[in-house]
Amino acid sequence: MPGRFLVVEGIDGSGKSSQVERLGHWLPRSGLMPAGARLLVTREPGGTPLGERLYPILLNRQSPIHSRAELLLFAADRAQHVEAVIRPALNAGHWVLSDRFSGSTAAYQGYGRGCSLELVHRLEQVATGGLTPDLTLWLDLSPQQARTRKPPSPQDRFEGAGSDFTERVAHGFRQLARERGWWRIPAGEPCTVVEAAVQAACHSTLAA
Ligand code: TYD
Repeated sequence: MPGRFLVVEGIDGSGKSSQVERLGHWLPRSGLMPAGARLLVTREPGGTPLGERLYPILLNRQSPIHSRAELLLFAADRAQHVEAVIRPALNAGHWVLSDRFSGSTAAYQGYGRGCSLELVHRLEQVATGGLTPDLTLWLDLSPQQARTRKPPSPQDRFEGAGSDFTERVAHGFRQLARERGWWRIPAGEPCTVVEAAVQAACHSTLAA
């Protein structure tokens, strides 16, 4: 039996990475996974050796990248990730948890940068080869809340893109969540409350 594919999405500062880490510890002990299945925790960009090399190129705000080139680089990162990591694991019956997937490209490069949504969608098909997550958890936090949470630090290409950009990305995530049936997790609560909501969503959707 093929494994299950879970994705966590959200704007920068939504608490996504720490929830991925918590979920990565909890899921194998949750009783939801069949005996013998392992959980692979991975991320985009960067879940493969190629992705590790693309990551600093994509994030470094010093080197300008045209929005269409940026879109293609994220698509390349994803194609490699799907073929080399995600699909082989799922085919072997394992479960995969990814910190971001194609929804991020639709939100950041589509809604945020203004790349044609039609083009984004076509490229998504190419990059994923039609693979879609079994469950996408969307950590819903407003950009204002995210800003007050995040300690000031050197900003990457996306964190430094300005508040209008972040508003468009946040709006994109809201639209995508509706269109794609993502599971909304209110992310303004304390970490343990968010974690409990994430676990409840998994029980509701993944129980055999
Ligand atoms: P992020 O998950 O924030 O990584 P880190 O925790 O290491 O900073 O992702 C890095 C940035 O990449 C984030 O600002 C969103 C952006 N991004 C896109 O613009 N498009 C994409 O398709 C993906 C996967 C990420």
